[in-house]
Amino acid sequence: MNDLSPSMIASTVTSLGEKGLDILLSDGQSYYFNYYWLRDNCLGSFSTVTRERSFDIFHLDTAPRATHAEVQGDMLVVSWQDEDEVTQTPVEWLSTYGTGKPRRDPADMERVAWFSDHYPSVPRFSQPQLVADPKARAAWIESLLVHGFAIVSDMPDSDEGLTQTAELIGFVRPTFFGTYFDVRTHIKPTNTAYTAGALELHTDTPAEEFAPGIQFLHCRANTVEGGESLYADGVAVANDFRTRDPEGFKLLSETEIPFFCEHDTYDARSRQTVIELDQHGAVSGLTISQHMADIFDLDQKVLDDYYPAFCRFGRMLQEEKYVMHFLMKGGECMVFDNHRIVHGRAAYSATSGDRYLRGCYVDRSEMRSTYRALVSEGRFKE
Ligand SMILES: [Fe+2]
Repeated sequence: MNDLSPSMIASTVTSLGEKGLDILLSDGQSYYFNYYWLRDNCLGSFSTVTRERSFDIFHLDTAPRATHAEVQGDMLVVSWQDEDEVTQTPVEWLSTYGTGKPRRDPADMERVAWFSDHYPSVPRFSQPQLVADPKARAAWIESLLVHGFAIVSDMPDSDEGLTQTAELIGFVRPTFFGTYFDVRTHIKPTNTAYTAGALELHTDTPAEEFAPGIQFLHCRANTVEGGESLYADGVAVANDFRTRDPEGFKLLSETEIPFFCEHDTYDARSRQTVIELDQHGAVSGLTISQHMADIFDLDQKVLDDYYPAFCRFGRMLQEEKYVMHFLMKGGECMVFDNHRIVHGRAAYSATSGDRYLRGCYVDRSEMRSTYRALVSEGRFKE
């Protein structure tokens, strides 16, 4: 019986081939590395100042070929044919990339679905604490990655308070509404949200080619009668729909439908699937809005199946099991994944008090980027 544990095995280059080399790593497994990859990804290929690749592989005259390679300490050291260069590649990088699988992403977290009883467990964060403490910011973003919804309390009662909070996650992402929007009753509304009527469960600005990812809704005042907020987790509903109605799920996750938003000075159009899947095939979100769904320009025979499935899903979204109801309080900011969490509102009496929300967006990729920077170290620092 071999009593050598993998960590006791020294990494060794076992053969130099025509296009790449074989190396035995400390886990006891043999891995193959292509010479182009090794030449392109040595330590010297990256600038510690810009932290970008400074080596240009397009300028190699001939295909790179190793003449000698050996492990020295924690580096693979390679000499190259037709070049004076001797390169060093950290053995740790070889362990990371040897399987050919995507590099681990700390922001690729498993989503946890939630249901109508979620309100008492919604992750809550105090705005001044988020400003002061990077660990609190990381926990806040983690809750957005996992649950898609969080509440920030103790918000400054100012326009700047919202921008400052959003910028803790990333740059504010403008839409055709501008860099922010105010939700209050308007005399001549250009959007259903600007009336006192009920607002069905939806995701925002689906007519944008890339709808904004994270939505911030800062409640500045809410003293009206009615106007209960409604939120549901699109992942919870779509996961159950996948089991309950596989044919409908297939249609809604594969068929693109048109969305629109048009008025005097804009005419935004996009095509989106209602159910969005991630790189693992898991449900990552929804794009849905009855008031911004365009006239479906699909084959009418396709609609024989699509419309009933669309309606089955739309009704399911409204089931009591999924919809969380609560009243927002002044000084709170709802922060949620606009591609995952559907939101809406019950009708309210516009003359019974004041209801004023200011909102803005940040993109999902900005949020993931900020999270990675908060929880992990870069690879190319001086
Ligand atoms: Fe909305």
